[in-house]
This record gives sequence, structure tokens and C-alpha cells, in this order.
Amino acid sequence: MEKGIFISFEGPDGAGKSSVMAAIAAWLRAELGDARVIETREPGGNRIAEQIRAVLFDDRNTNMDARTEALLFAAARRQHVVEDLQPALAAGKVILSDRYVDSSVAYQGAGRQLGIDRVWELNQYATAGCLPQLTVYLDLPVEEGLARIAAHRSDQVNRLDREQLAFHETVHAAYDELARRHPQRIVKVDARPPMPEVIDQVKALITARFFA
Ligand SMILES: Nc1ncnc2c1ncn2[C@@H]1O[C@H](COP(=O)(O)OP(=O)(O)OP(=O)(O)O)[C@@H](O)[C@H]1O
Ligand SMILES: [Mg+2]
Repeated sequence: MEKGIFISFEGPDGAGKSSVMAAIAAWLRAELGDARVIETREPGGNRIAEQIRAVLFDDRNTNMDARTEALLFAAARRQHVVEDLQPALAAGKVILSDRYVDSSVAYQGAGRQLGIDRVWELNQYATAGCLPQLTVYLDLPVEEGLARIAAHRSDQVNRLDREQLAFHETVHAAYDELARRHPQRIVKVDARPPMPEVIDQVKALITARFFA
């Protein structure tokens, strides 16, 4: 069976995950053909997971318990793995995912203080070990990411974006810790330069890893 490629994009809020991933998807589609490339996001990817996403990002749900939140993210991820990721990988596709397990570990494990190891374990259960071969970690100081969001899309700030600065610092530190724990999978890319430069860095990384 042909084996696909799974790449996730991670990093703090406003680091450029969605923008850079869109550019990488366009590049890969031109190189490999439309049918080979799948763009997805978490939480989401399919109808059930998008329904869970709506609950997670609903501004009315200010009383959501931290474990409820972690379980909902993991549940959405499970459905994403089974319904979308595993079939696509089996079909030899290239999957680009805007966030994946590392987001849960960073935001719920560290940010919400559930514990990095506990949330990692929960997600091992959810994913049955389905991990990306490469995680592009777009690294940006917290204030810069939040400033980008405020400048460009203040209308789109959701419940989870509005957490305290200290929360975001904790999340950022957890991403660094994850990169230390998984040096083969997680590659840190400096997200501070102008977007075309960041995109070129990521293209070079993907080329070296998969198409050299
Ligand atoms: N390298 C960059 N330099 C300047 N601005 C950037 C850069 N990369 C992205 N931006 C801008 O910053 C904003 C946030 O980018 P984007 O939405 O891609 O980040 P994100 O990581 O997906 O954020 P979120 O975590 O909120 O989903 C956008 O308006 C985007 O145009
Ligand atoms: Mg985004």
C-alpha cells in the first residue's frame, strides 16, 4: 500500500499557520497535482468534528471545564483520524493539517494546566499513534502573534484567543518543550520574517525531508 505524507502546522496564535499552510498547499498542488494534496484543520475536518469545533469556540461556553475542553478536542481529533487522515494516508495523499496533537498538549496540557503528559496520553488514545512525519512549528513571540491578529482580523478573535497573556506564554513554552522532546518530528521555523521568507523556509524544509 502506498504511504502518504502527513505534515502538521503548529505554533502560537497568529504565528502564520493558516497563511503559510495555504501557500504550501498551493505550491504542492502545482508540483504534485490537485488530487494528491489535502488541506485540513483541527478541530474539524469533517461534519462531526466541525460540530464539536462549534461547541469549543462558542462564545457562550465561558463555563467550559478544562477537562471537557481537552476531551472535546481529542474527540474531534479521533473522528478526524478515522474519517479523513487514515484513509488519505492509505491512498498516498499529502495531508496538511492546521494544528494537531501538539496544540492540545500546549493549550490544554500546559495552558490549562492539565499536564503535558496526561494530555499527550489522552491523545495517544484518540489517535492510536497516528502522528505527522513532520510538524512545522512556526515560532513567534506571543505579543507579535497577538498583535498580528489584532491588526488583521479583530473580528475573528474567538473565545480561546482571548485568554490572558500569561496563558499564551505558557503555551509558547510548551511548544518549545515539545520541540525538545520530538526533535525528529518537530522543526522550528522562525516566523518573524516577512511571510514570503517564512514560506520559502518551509518549502526548503519539506523539499529536504520528502522530495530531495
Ligand atoms: N510572516 C508574517 N509577517 C507579517 N504578518 C504575518 C506573517 N504571517 C502571517 N501574518 C499575518 O498575521 C495574521 C495571522 O496569520 P494566520 O491567521 O495565518 O496565523 P495563525 O497562526 O493561523 O493564527 P491562529 O492561531 O489565530 O489561527 C494574518 O493577518 C496574516 O496575514
Ligand atoms: Mg489559523
